[in-house]
Amino acid sequence: MNKRYSVGKSNKHDSADLHVSGEARYVDDIHLPKDALHVAIGYSAIACGEILSMDLQSCKKGGGAIDVITASDIPGKQDVAPVFSGDLLLTDKRIDYHGQPIFAVVAKDYNTAKRAVGFAKIEYKEETPLLDLDEALDQESYVRPPHGMRCGNAQKAIDSAPHKISGSLEIGGQDHLYLEGQVSVAIPEEDNRITIHSSNQNPTETQHLVAEVLNLSMADVNVVTRRMGGAFGGKETQAAPWACIAALFAIRNQRVVKCRLGREDDMRMTGKRHPFKHEYTVGFDNKGKILGVDYKIAADCGHSADLSDAIVDRAMFHCDNAYSLVNANIIGLRVKTNTVSHTAFRGFGGPQGMMLAEVVIEDIAQYLSKDALSIRQINFYKQGDITPYGQTIESEQHAEIVNALAEQSKYESRRKQIETFNQNSPMIKRGISLTPVKFGISFTVAYMNQAGALIHIYHDGSIHLNHGGTEMGQGLMIKLAQIVAEVFQVNLDKIKINATQTDKVPNTSPTAASSGTDINGMAVLNAALKLKKRLLKFIVKEFDCDESDIVFENNKIIIANKNNDFNNIIKQAYMARTSLSATGFYKTPQIHYDRVKAKGQPFFYYANGAAVSEVEVNTLTGESKVLRTDILHDAGNSINPVIDIGQIEGGYIQGMGWLTSEDLKWDQMGRLSSANPATYKIPTAHDVPDIFNVKLLQDAPNITNTIFRSKAVGEPPLMLAISVWCAIRQAISSLSDSKKGIKLEAPATPENIMKAVLDLEK
Ligand code: MTE
Ligand code: MOS
Repeated sequence: MNKRYSVGKSNKHDSADLHVSGEARYVDDIHLPKDALHVAIGYSAIACGEILSMDLQSCKKGGGAIDVITASDIPGKQDVAPVFSGDLLLTDKRIDYHGQPIFAVVAKDYNTAKRAVGFAKIEYKEETPLLDLDEALDQESYVRPPHGMRCGNAQKAIDSAPHKISGSLEIGGQDHLYLEGQVSVAIPEEDNRITIHSSNQNPTETQHLVAEVLNLSMADVNVVTRRMGGAFGGKETQAAPWACIAALFAIRNQRVVKCRLGREDDMRMTGKRHPFKHEYTVGFDNKGKILGVDYKIAADCGHSADLSDAIVDRAMFHCDNAYSLVNANIIGLRVKTNTVSHTAFRGFGGPQGMMLAEVVIEDIAQYLSKDALSIRQINFYKQGDITPYGQTIESEQHAEIVNALAEQSKYESRRKQIETFNQNSPMIKRGISLTPVKFGISFTVAYMNQAGALIHIYHDGSIHLNHGGTEMGQGLMIKLAQIVAEVFQVNLDKIKINATQTDKVPNTSPTAASSGTDINGMAVLNAALKLKKRLLKFIVKEFDCDESDIVFENNKIIIANKNNDFNNIIKQAYMARTSLSATGFYKTPQIHYDRVKAKGQPFFYYANGAAVSEVEVNTLTGESKVLRTDILHDAGNSINPVIDIGQIEGGYIQGMGWLTSEDLKWDQMGRLSSANPATYKIPTAHDVPDIFNVKLLQDAPNITNTIFRSKAVGEPPLMLAISVWCAIRQAISSLSDSKKGIKLEAPATPENIMKAVLDLEK
């Protein structure tokens, strides 16, 4: 390839202008015919029990619904679970959580439909719901069997260690709170076929489920996703049911149907980040080197498996974070409770696992009265070390990044200043923490690591780009367009970015696990290179020259030192009957994992980063604020630095919300009390630290052969926010010189901070 023409440039998001002017079209903006119908869902008012009777007559008569469906109206499969069974599209017997869909109605507009739902009369036989994680653990109530991961001899190492600590940590869940909620529009086509526009990370799986629910073949169903107004994992499996319901009504009524959940309905009916509870015992030496760990990792999965097996696996894969565990016994429990089924959320269990690694470090530091950073540093993985799941560490970038960041952010001198500040400030306490992130990249289910692309060059020279990835704001489309522009050395405006469509690129994986650019980028590169090869072949023949005489440069094709317009050559290639459309395919090499043995190489490589956060905590009110943040993150050879920095800033703030202010509460009846943004507090612009320095690691090509040696960046930055939680803990610990760990649960809300402060006085 010539010098970099497009890859590596900070192009703005392809839809940036449309986003800020309000012209970007989301599913809800699609112009519908006058007779389109709108869905509202009738859901369970209890969390556990059975439906005794259902009278839905009045939804139509008094309520104005045009059509009503229950489970028995589903022509095909009723279960829309993604991997294992247990997620009914509509239930007519068992109730497993409050908010479980029972029936659906359509009406001429959304408000009428919503009102019509209220006319239903449903009688239940109520049972006591299982809501408490501890209670469910005692009862061994699981959605999937426990799974263990082991290395060395943990028991022996802990028993013979000079010091030993045990503890537990509870971590709350998180609502995705995507700006655009779940939405699908279904358009019936001739011959019983259907097109669905869906805000969806996983168009292929939705196509598959719609086909199953309607007893159609996948080829009858086309799912289209132009963009999402945020997804964060919440539209990986949980966008499909609403598409299925819209499709069902559309076929029954032969009308266009929109299913868009209202915010509260969305928050009640869709799963969240899993709440976790960790129990741990760690043995260590006088310096703080970890000798052995015994970890019990339990996730509240809600009522069904959804993706929980893989999510708890990822928590287990990340409970080492960047620290070598030679003797480890890790058990992962997938706990079943009567709540909505929890699902993918940025980091996919990784963040919860990593919290365990960091709380253990903090406890050891407190016990030995040492700075936590020094404990981190002596426990870092070194090149050649092996993780508890058998993957060899090929580079120690986390250590290099941490050391560089400590230097850049003046960690040591600021820590000393904070100590002095705290000695002179009885109520307001400050804390500082530097935490690393080492995040494994790849789907841990191997077959999912595949991607496809389809590129057309039209005979006017314009280029049409399709691939299996979906755009949720992360900048996937612009990065992939840059890859095509790089291959042909043309301007970006030549490349038209299109909606992701299942009839263009089939059998795609969800855009998830941060792998969007990695896998689709390679497929796109592959397709573009095929086309370039065909063009070269045509030119060699037509111009009677050697391939080495041909240079693609700056929208030109230079042939034997003579400039030719790119468009002209394309036209000539077309006239000479050259195929100007190509598919591309990619599967990630090398990865393998034997789940039974819990050994293998599940990750193609690791993404690394580190953050220093400085916080201030009011120990009388529990309020906290991040004062300053410094981040150094590794995006390899970034394909688009400004997009990557945006991902890092956004990920960090989203993680900060998870660990400080976003507090999901269910009441004793299993009803979500925090079901709207008034009672569920996400961070705002006001919470962004005044000093926020975000840098990409420079001159750091990925040592693994990824697309242009870049690194995935979607999820890893969220975990940089663990530094905020640790800094808050540090601030609280300045109140005490006890060896005992600080009992701070996550999120560190004012309430939980006060609990931790009061616990010190006990
Ligand atoms: N960024 C924005 N703006 N909106 C999103 O919904 N989702 C995150 C991350 N960044 C998300 C985002 C999640 S959960 C993932 S897995 C990745 O983007 C997916 O995209 P990628 O694989 O192309 O990075
Ligand atoms: Mo992201 S949680 O893998 O969609």
